[in-house]
Amino acid sequence: MTKILVLYYSMYGHIERMADAIAEGVRMEESTEVLVKRVPEIIPEDRARIMGVKLDQKAGIATTEELANYDAIIFGTPTRFGNMAAQMRNFLDQTGKLWMDGSLIGKVGSVFTSSATQHGGQETTVTSFHSTLLHHGMVIVGVPYSCTGLTVMTEITGGSPYGSSTLSGADGKRMPSENELEIARFQGRHVAQIAKRLKAK
Ligand SMILES: Cc1cc2nc3c(=O)[nH]c(=O)nc-3n(C[C@H](O)[C@H](O)[C@H](O)COP(=O)(O)O)c2cc1C
Repeated sequence: MTKILVLYYSMYGHIERMADAIAEGVRMEESTEVLVKRVPEIIPEDRARIMGVKLDQKAGIATTEELANYDAIIFGTPTRFGNMAAQMRNFLDQTGKLWMDGSLIGKVGSVFTSSATQHGGQETTVTSFHSTLLHHGMVIVGVPYSCTGLTVMTEITGGSPYGSSTLSGADGKRMPSENELEIARFQGRHVAQIAKRLKAK
């Protein structure tokens, strides 16, 4: 059984929705097991309530130690000024022991994201995230152009060869479109297929 973790942070629910679609894609692949978990919130609860943070998310909280148990990890983060969110950075900055032990070497790593605006830094968020995964020795997987949703030009859509993505709109009201969810499913399945092949060796 190939074990895959979808590990995300979501402040307002867009990445949470995408994480579920990624997991749906993984489940399409036989002999895989997928878990969806979150990194801990680091905004104090009273402040988070004032900010309207979505506190009712069903995914459990991951520990850094458990990352070593998976064959692939698919990371989801909203963009923050073209980078990953501090909540995800804070979690990754606690993985020093995993790095020392080489626990993630050879595992598949993949990233998806969300931004408010079309050109608000999705690609920089994903590609700068990749640096951390490479330091851990992970094998980076994106979304190949065999995913037809990447070339859709008839609507505004997220999704790139770097990873699936969505756009929340400046007011946060836009939720992932069907095309974006389809690219997310593709990414989940694609990662699962590659992780299976790597594990078989
Ligand atoms: C501090 C901060 C910085 C942000 N920086 C960007 C940005 O650089 N580009 C952008 O398009 N959106 C930016 N956003 C919007 C978020 O990316 C957006 O709210 C998020 O993708 C929604 O995903 P979520 O519902 O999963 O939290 C920022 C939001 C915050 C709070």
